[in-house]
Amino acid sequence: MPFFEARDVNLHFDRYHALRDVSLSFEKSDVTVICGPSGSGKSTFIRAINRLAGPIGKGQILFKGQDVLMMPANELHRKIGMVFQRFNLFQHLTVLDNIALPQRRVLRRSREESNERAMKLLDRVGLANKASSFPVELSGGQQQRVAICRALAMEPELMLFDEPTSALDPEMVGEVLQVMRELARSGMTMIVVTHEMGFARELANEIVFLENGQLVEKAQPSDFFSQPKSERTRAFLDQILRH
Ligand SMILES: Nc1ncnc2c1ncn2[C@@H]1O[C@H](COP(=O)(O)OP(=O)(O)OP(=O)(O)O)[C@@H](O)[C@H]1O
Ligand SMILES: [Mg+2]
Repeated sequence: MPFFEARDVNLHFDRYHALRDVSLSFEKSDVTVICGPSGSGKSTFIRAINRLAGPIGKGQILFKGQDVLMMPANELHRKIGMVFQRFNLFQHLTVLDNIALPQRRVLRRSREESNERAMKLLDRVGLANKASSFPVELSGGQQQRVAICRALAMEPELMLFDEPTSALDPEMVGEVLQVMRELARSGMTMIVVTHEMGFARELANEIVFLENGQLVEKAQPSDFFSQPKSERTRAFLDQILRH
C-alpha cells in the first residue's frame, strides 16, 4: 500500500472541471513538487487532500490506505499539515501562542508542554527571540517560518505547501526554503507546490506538471529538466527558467 495515493481524482466547481483523472502516489519521506501554469489546479489538488476544496467527484485520495473523505476532520488536519502562500497567522496572538494554542485545543496538551514544544520549534527555525512578538512585527519570511512551526506542532505525517515563498520579497525566500530543506532532509513527507526549480531539482523525488486540471507529466528531477516528455512541459520550463 502506498503512503499516499490519488486515484483518478476528479473535482468540479459547478460546471467547471478543475481536476481530471489526476493520479499520483508516493512513499513516506518522499518530496513531491507540483508545478504548472496559473489556474492549472495545483491549489485545488492539494486543498482537496485536506478537504479544503471539494468534494471529490469520481476518484479517491488515500492516505496510508484510508480514504480522506472518511477520516474525521480533526484527525485529518492533525496528520496532514498545510502551509499557505499567505501566512494565515492569528494576528491577535503572539508568535508563541500561535504555535502553542492549537496544541492545547487540538491535542489537549498542557500549557507548559505546548509552550516548551513551541519554543523548540522556534529555535529550530531561528526565531526563539521572537516568541513574544505579534505577527505584524515580523517580516514575511519570519511569519512564514512561524506558520511552518505551527503546522509542525501537530506532528503531522504529511506536510502540504502551497507556494510558500511566492508572496515573499526575494531576499526572504532563501530563509524559508532553508527551513523546508531541513524538514525534507529530516525525513518529512512533503507535497510542495512551487516554481522554485532549484529546490525541486535538489530535493524532489518526483516533479509533477499539471495543466488544465490534468497531470501532463511526472518524472524524477534529472529527467524532468533534461528531457521533458511533453512539449507543454518544455514550454513551461523555458518560460520559468528564463527568469
Ligand atoms: N472556489 C472556487 N470556485 C470556482 N472555481 C474555482 C474555485 N477555486 C478554483 N477555481 C478554479 O479552478 C481552476 C484551478 O484553480 P487553482 O487555484 O487550483 O489553480 P492554481 O494552479 O493553484 O493557480 P495559481 O498558480 O494561480 O495559484 C481555476 O480555473 C480557478 O478559477
Ligand atoms: Mg494556486
